[in-house]
Amino acid sequence: MYHILSCDQFLRQDLTELFALTDEIRANTSRFGKALQGKIVATIFYEPSTRTRLSFEAAILRLGGSIISTENAKEMSSAIKGESLLDTIRVIDGYCDAIVLRHYDNRAAANAAEVSSVPIINAGSGSGEHPTQSLLDAYTIYKYKKNLDGLSVAVVGDLLFGRTVHSLVKLLALFRDITIYGLSREVLELPYEYVTYLRQKGVSYIPCRSFAEIPYDVDVIYQTRTQTERFENTDLQVEEFVIDEAVMKNFSPQTILMHPLPRRNEISPEVDQDKRAVYFQQSHYGMYVRMSLLYNILVGK
Ligand code: NCD
Repeated sequence: MYHILSCDQFLRQDLTELFALTDEIRANTSRFGKALQGKIVATIFYEPSTRTRLSFEAAILRLGGSIISTENAKEMSSAIKGESLLDTIRVIDGYCDAIVLRHYDNRAAANAAEVSSVPIINAGSGSGEHPTQSLLDAYTIYKYKKNLDGLSVAVVGDLLFGRTVHSLVKLLALFRDITIYGLSREVLELPYEYVTYLRQKGVSYIPCRSFAEIPYDVDVIYQTRTQTERFENTDLQVEEFVIDEAVMKNFSPQTILMHPLPRRNEISPEVDQDKRAVYFQQSHYGMYVRMSLLYNILVGK
């Protein structure tokens, strides 16, 4: 059984292999066109999604598999009739070979894995983790930087509720000599459990309050959206750290700018023309990384 639940579970070697397979699939996509023939993957989403669901579904189709799906499971599945997630999983696992699950509860994927007879792939669990996003993030960094050792990465924005950040920092901790700058407002700081995790793994974590505290030659800036939908206090207003041309002028030509998307105002559209802005490429890599993950899970290494 090969569930994908949290970035805790990966070894450095897993990433090396996954990146190599992703390169191979990108270079020879059609050669993998029948890999999932006869297999059915369920995509069950209790929260909105564009990239994650569609790139997973495109990945399944490009590998020759079939899909059963509910894109608005909170309202369109039996959840509305009061069925528990675990009962839903116990039923769906009999219809398919793997379940890609996005849910608003941080523990959902782990709980589903306890009862599922097929692999569960966490496609985002509340404000917890989003491991497949960070695999594609790490792959993107690898493509632009060649190596993840010795990197400096600034994570910016909502570090409290941003599940993509939580997963990414855990993956980065697999590499040597990593420095992470955490730029956020005080109310959206990286939770203590992740700061502790990083320190235990020997990562240097530096909280920041302004772009000026991030070095000119930082390798990666990873901007994120404020997850207002997760705020308990709906009146809370948090000023965003907007990245525009003026901000980008303070960074090296080698610094890359990433974002898991969707963005709102936190990256000005003018920055899209900047060669260092790689977020659309990053989202395109997502489909290939997910192909490679599904291949590993359903066909075997
Ligand atoms: C992210 C998510 O759902 O956590 N989106 C994604 O999967 N690419 C980020 C976000 O919603 O802000």
